[in-house]
Amino acid sequence: MLVEKNVPLQAFNTFRIVAKAHALARITSEADVQALLADPTWGPSPTFVLGGGSNIVLTGDVKPLVLKVEVPGRRLVAETDKHWVVEAGAGEAWHDFVTWTLDQGYPGLENMALIPGTVGAAPVQNVGAYGVELQDRFESLDAIDLQTGQVFTLNAAQCAFGYRDSVFKHGGAMPTAGGQSLGLKDRALILRVRFALPKAWKPVLGYADLERKMLETGIQQPTARQIYNWVCEVRRAKLPDPNVIGNAGSFFKNPTVTPEQCADIIAREPKVVHYPLHDGSVKLAAGWLIDACGWKGKSVGQAGVYDKQALVLVNRGAGVDGNGATGGEVMTLAKAIQTSVYERFGILLESEPVVV
Ligand code: EPU
Repeated sequence: MLVEKNVPLQAFNTFRIVAKAHALARITSEADVQALLADPTWGPSPTFVLGGGSNIVLTGDVKPLVLKVEVPGRRLVAETDKHWVVEAGAGEAWHDFVTWTLDQGYPGLENMALIPGTVGAAPVQNVGAYGVELQDRFESLDAIDLQTGQVFTLNAAQCAFGYRDSVFKHGGAMPTAGGQSLGLKDRALILRVRFALPKAWKPVLGYADLERKMLETGIQQPTARQIYNWVCEVRRAKLPDPNVIGNAGSFFKNPTVTPEQCADIIAREPKVVHYPLHDGSVKLAAGWLIDACGWKGKSVGQAGVYDKQALVLVNRGAGVDGNGATGGEVMTLAKAIQTSVYERFGILLESEPVVV
């Protein structure tokens, strides 16, 4: 199998940051991983798994062998009384897969339309939007151990999904529903993901942006396709298209605080956007906190805060000729935002993308 050397990564990361992979292999099946492991040159090398590159900040050239996941395929694998179980190769583009499921008549992923990235990357951060998270529709996944080449299957509990979090984001021991388990960060490559899509489908409409669409259109009982169209419209209006302006989606997670902390903030900042959660804690809108600190439209070098959504950092440079933002500029901007939000609200924002 071919390992390419000195591969430009700008087209392979949605921030469009200029960097190179010292070596890159395209993985289309488990056999490709097994062939690399058996190869004396590459077998012992540390590796870095790259999906759609939509949740990474490259701060320099990537020295570990880059495994670019290009496993194809999408199909119905099972049908039960309650679900269609559909499977997609990890290399499929997430949005194209969502569109395909709806075209086939399998609803359930529509709220997550237009999320950038690949199917294989989606479980890593348990992607979510407009009230639905990947874990709500997840059935199981197949992954390959990058040390032994063994393929294994994980169910939802074993993936230890959390808010933008999973077993794939942690190294070492981590607490899971079933007790302690070992984090799989840098240890596994996701090959295929299966989703259980409900036959008794019900729309998920709790989000303000979707309720606004219902009011505007007068449609009270939207179909899955209608919701898909609304989500695409909302995202196109609010979030920058990575093909036009480099970005990695939300740069920070929405923080959760205790009701006491929230009451304290409201006393000082009555307008703070907050949502009570089922467990009694309160989620704050990080975008609002950043916006309130005056960051919208500000920049460090070519890295900037998107002017329609302060939670999104963007690459303002054209990028193609190497003039775009560096990973260092993005991280300097991110740290300055964290500092100012901390100084004003006493909250430390946690960043979402993986810094490489
Ligand atoms: N807000 C502001 N100013 C801003 C940005 C937001 O005041 O600059 C306020 C909004 O007016 C709104 C609230 O903050 O009242 C929340 O904003 P929004 O509905 O846009 O959602 P979000 O919490 O900023 C999250 C996800 C998005 C997801 C949307 C919709 C995270 C980190 N982000 O954003 O996910 O699309 O909800 O469900 O949870 C991503 O993870 O990359 C991502 C884009």
